[in-house]
Amino acid sequence: MRILVTGATGTLGGALLPALLRAGHQVRALSRKERGSSGRVEWVWGDLVSGKGVPDAVHGVDAIAHLATSGPKGRGAVDVPGTHRLLLAAREARVPHLLYTSIVGVDRAAIGHLRHKLEAERLIGESGIGWTVLRATRYQQSLDQRLRAYASVPVMLVDRSLPWQPVHTGEVAALAASLLASGPEGREYEFGGPEVMNTEELVRTWLEARNVRRPCLPVHYPGRLYAAQRDGELTTDADSRGIISWRDYLHPAPPALSDDFASEHTASPTSPANQPENDPDLHVYGGDEGYERPTRS
Ligand SMILES: NC(=O)c1ccc[n+]([C@@H]2O[C@H](COP(=O)([O-])OP(=O)(O)OC[C@H]3O[C@@H](n4cnc5c(N)ncnc54)[C@H](OP(=O)(O)O)[C@@H]3O)[C@@H](O)[C@H]2O)c1
Repeated sequence: MRILVTGATGTLGGALLPALLRAGHQVRALSRKERGSSGRVEWVWGDLVSGKGVPDAVHGVDAIAHLATSGPKGRGAVDVPGTHRLLLAAREARVPHLLYTSIVGVDRAAIGHLRHKLEAERLIGESGIGWTVLRATRYQQSLDQRLRAYASVPVMLVDRSLPWQPVHTGEVAALAASLLASGPEGREYEFGGPEVMNTEELVRTWLEARNVRRPCLPVHYPGRLYAAQRDGELTTDADSRGIISWRDYLHPAPPALSDDFASEHTASPTSPANQPENDPDLHVYGGDEGYERPTRS
């Protein structure tokens, strides 16, 4: 299949592109930055807020993985009007399937950014285009980045009462790739990490793994969204969960020696086998091995 990925340069996009390539698909990747195409990845310029480049981007694709977001600070500009523009173009181009990545809890706590995600889900459901929604809990990679920012100050403010269920983007990407391959189902899936932990455990594990020392000051985070999180609205007990724990992500095991070990280690030092990070088509984030398709949300 030829699949358009919006948000291809983002945290999840970085894991979905290699997952789709491994599954044998052609990928068209949308970004607001000009990038050169290579191999089975065709980069196209487009902006979902202005709508420029979007009709060309959707032309001739079999499915769309709609990951782009302007995040909590973006006032829903990409998630709501951006999704609307994408849907109009996709309907015009007769794209049969759009998969949208949403957040666990949007239906229970439509507050702030989650309200925009829920509104986008509604637009998609009413668009007439075949759809699937994949709601995930917080990505481990994104929490890692957030904790790095928090640790830039001398004391970390920790609300022990908040439950977290971090999930690995490699596993979310594997599920997204599988849902794209099976076609539109007109339903929502929930997918979370293997364990629920409180902020203290989350932060302590991170400090230890990153070898950072910071005193942690117990606080109570204010606001309705944190209240909803405290009540467990942003975690899921769906049967289908990832298997990579927060600790596993922070302490990745060294790669196992494969049958290709000899060839990899006798290849020239400049070959992609020895420099996968320099191969734009094969940036391997891993984590989808052993993945099994969920059976319910
Ligand atoms: N982060 C999490 O923990 C988490 C958890 C559950 C669900 N999700 C959902 O998963 C999806 C991916 O999240 P993420 O964390 O990977 O996102 P991210 O890292 O914040 O990346 C955002 C992406 O959106 C694109 N984008 C922003 N504005 C755009 C515009 N005007 N036009 C076109 N593209 C635009 C950016 O592309 P360019 O800058 O290249 O244009 C970038 O690739 C989102 O739907 C998010 O709501 C995230």
